Amino acid sequence: MVKVESLLKIFRDKKRGEIIAVDNLSFECKSGMILGVLGLNGAGKTTTLRILATLLKPTSGTAFIDGINILEKPDRAKERIGFLSGDTGLYRRLTPRELVCYFGELYDIPKKESNKRLEKFAEQLDMKEFLDTKIDKLSTGQKQKVSIARTMLHNPKVLIMDEPTAGLDIIASENIVQLIYEAKSQNRAVIFSTHMMYEAQKVCDEIIIIHRGKLIRSGSIDKMRSETGMEDLDNIFIESIREVI
Ligand SMILES: Nc1ncnc2c1ncn2[C@@H]1O[C@H](COP(=O)(O)OP(=O)(O)O)[C@@H](O)[C@H]1O
Ligand SMILES: [Mg+2]
Repeated sequence: MVKVESLLKIFRDKKRGEIIAVDNLSFECKSGMILGVLGLNGAGKTTTLRILATLLKPTSGTAFIDGINILEKPDRAKERIGFLSGDTGLYRRLTPRELVCYFGELYDIPKKESNKRLEKFAEQLDMKEFLDTKIDKLSTGQKQKVSIARTMLHNPKVLIMDEPTAGLDIIASENIVQLIYEAKSQNRAVIFSTHMMYEAQKVCDEIIIIHRGKLIRSGSIDKMRSETGMEDLDNIFIESIREVI
């Protein structure tokens, strides 16, 4: 469903010079699979995910979403993607209900249907009490829930989430994990980055570990266990990074 081929992204920064944020990265995520992207701060996770979501152009390389080349047909690729990131646009003066209906219109979803889907998310994510409160007045966790409803509204085949549980309490995180499982059971492909090794270990079918933009280890956790002789993902992660620095 998602195929990433030799992705390279070089930023040119006046002060820092050339920064190779993503360095020849290739990986795949099939339908019905949950792929975790792990890396330290600055490893290139956000840059990679933003390229996949067609928000950023790679320096070279490309990716295919459902067979569609993101460089050749970004709009068609985008229809199939739900992208969640910390700064995903939420219009602060709207209420969650207004926002979701507005995005529904952008995706040609009838208002009635948008409302129906919103009610379902409200149930799953415990959002009912603030559906008609201005986004301005919501807490970080509540805003994150609104973002998630927005991201999933058009039933995308591919979910791309940049640290979806960052800053959330344990119940809110668990609700998101449940949504990720549900997306998997609906045969969607889910790619998400996280700092939480415990979460990745629990949720992911496969993992890629990146460091300075490069892929340093990939595959199922069981595969990584037999490669390293280590049981826990946090030790596997630390060891994998130590090997390359
Ligand atoms: N717009 C930008 N201009 C210059 N450098 C950037 C830009 N965006 C990201 N970077 C750099 O690219 C590298 C990877 O960043 P990022 O993808 O945000 O990492 P992560 O999400 O894994 O923390 C970092 O060194 C970061 O400073
Ligand atoms: Mg990031």
